[in-house]
Amino acid sequence: MARRNKRVILEDLEVIDAGAKGKAVARAEDGRVVFINNAVPGDVVTIQTTKKRKAYYEGTAISVAKLSEKRVEPVCQHFGTCGGCKWQNMGYEHQLFYKQKEVVNNLTRIGHIELPNVTPILGSDAQYFYRNKMEFSFSSNKWLTLEQIQSDIQIENKNALGFHIPGMWDKILDLNKCHLQRDPSNAIRDFVKDEGQRLDMPFYNTRKQEGMLRTLMIRTTSIGEIMIVLQMFEDHKGKREALLDALALKFPEITSIQYVINNKGNDTIYDQEVICYKGRDHIFEEMEGLQFKINAKSFYQTNSEQAYELYKITRDFAGLTGKELVYDLYTGTGTIAQFVAKKAKKVIGVESVPDAITAAKENAQLNGITNVEFLVGDMKNVFNQDFVNQYGAADVVITDPPRDGMHKDVVAQLIALAAPKIVYVSCNSATQARDLSLLDEYYKVTKVQPVDMFPQTHHVENVVLLEKRNA
Ligand SMILES: C[S@@+](CC[C@H](N)C(=O)[O-])C[C@H]1O[C@@H](n2cnc3c(N)ncnc32)[C@H](O)[C@@H]1O
Repeated sequence: MARRNKRVILEDLEVIDAGAKGKAVARAEDGRVVFINNAVPGDVVTIQTTKKRKAYYEGTAISVAKLSEKRVEPVCQHFGTCGGCKWQNMGYEHQLFYKQKEVVNNLTRIGHIELPNVTPILGSDAQYFYRNKMEFSFSSNKWLTLEQIQSDIQIENKNALGFHIPGMWDKILDLNKCHLQRDPSNAIRDFVKDEGQRLDMPFYNTRKQEGMLRTLMIRTTSIGEIMIVLQMFEDHKGKREALLDALALKFPEITSIQYVINNKGNDTIYDQEVICYKGRDHIFEEMEGLQFKINAKSFYQTNSEQAYELYKITRDFAGLTGKELVYDLYTGTGTIAQFVAKKAKKVIGVESVPDAITAAKENAQLNGITNVEFLVGDMKNVFNQDFVNQYGAADVVITDPPRDGMHKDVVAQLIALAAPKIVYVSCNSATQARDLSLLDEYYKVTKVQPVDMFPQTHHVENVVLLEKRNA
């Protein structure tokens, strides 16, 4: 193993591509592909490898002989340390180019799909400050830069509130300014950090599993509502209330202040009680006159403005006339189901998270939508012939699975169902390609529309229309 991973220097490689999980790509003289975590296509770089395999190396650029013309100056002071926006050093038009390329490559190379003309990727108007949800972690053991470690200045205060350093579960980058969520996100985070310290509330120590302040979630919506969820490890009622009262006083615009007391090993709040301290226990998002109630645990697409574009494309691909029975598989809180409902006869939504289905039903009621029905269940168990017998055979299926794509039994049931149209929305075109190849004998891909929901990252959403062959 040691020999396999022996580090070598590869000099003056031209970077030729980007996209593979966000990495830039070059080719070494021995023919191996080189995946580089800190370069831009067009750069000429010298690489220190970190991993060697039969077909590839992984490595880091340690010097640059030529800087690519595709480069731009990153706007964020944390670029390079924070794992969040790895493509900030590449111009946005180039980011879009490589995202589109990634989708086409995956569909053709993994899926072996014969593609129609792929419509150019839909870019995001907002290239920064587009996220509606951020989760920050507290730590008493902040990440120190090499300069800080080497300097003579003693760093007394090691408290941090920010993001995990990539690959390091116990190291947190202390954020000054993050460019992902609109104001007052940065101001709220800074205030909570300062006030927590002023009140002498210990920041969480992951290794020792001690401390009070653990995570801070901030959710915002396009109509200006704001939710804060503060997670405590050890609780101190007096200090917690003093902190939350001060927060409410400083930011009267906050709609919902909630907290969680979680002293288990991991910091997921999904199995925890979320307690409402001030305001409502939910906020509202709006889209085309529809209202969506979002609570602390709800899934909602993270870029609201682009989610609207994504849903419009989905509805357009579905080509509804008002007569169709539609299945919305992996419906989450039923957003797509409700978005297409007024153009369909009936929509059936399926989702595995019970809270999401409760929210979906509430939202439908709130919106006065009566032609939707939602049920809870794992798709691979509930989506079967009994399901089809109960609800009727769908004319259009919309499917929006998680990153892993669809279970093979779900694909098999889609084949058995033989609906005339399937609209497949995916956040991972590699698993989408795998699923499409299973459907290929029965369905032809007739439209492909990549959508950029996450500027400055390599992530890309893709919507595909499948039409039944010989229908
Ligand atoms: C990408 S999200 C789509 C959400 C929704 N379509 C939207 O746009 O808001 C995928 C959803 O699938 C759900 N999910 C994951 N695995 C599932 C399974 N095996 N069966 C049913 N739902 C599942 C997740 O909880 C999540 O809500």
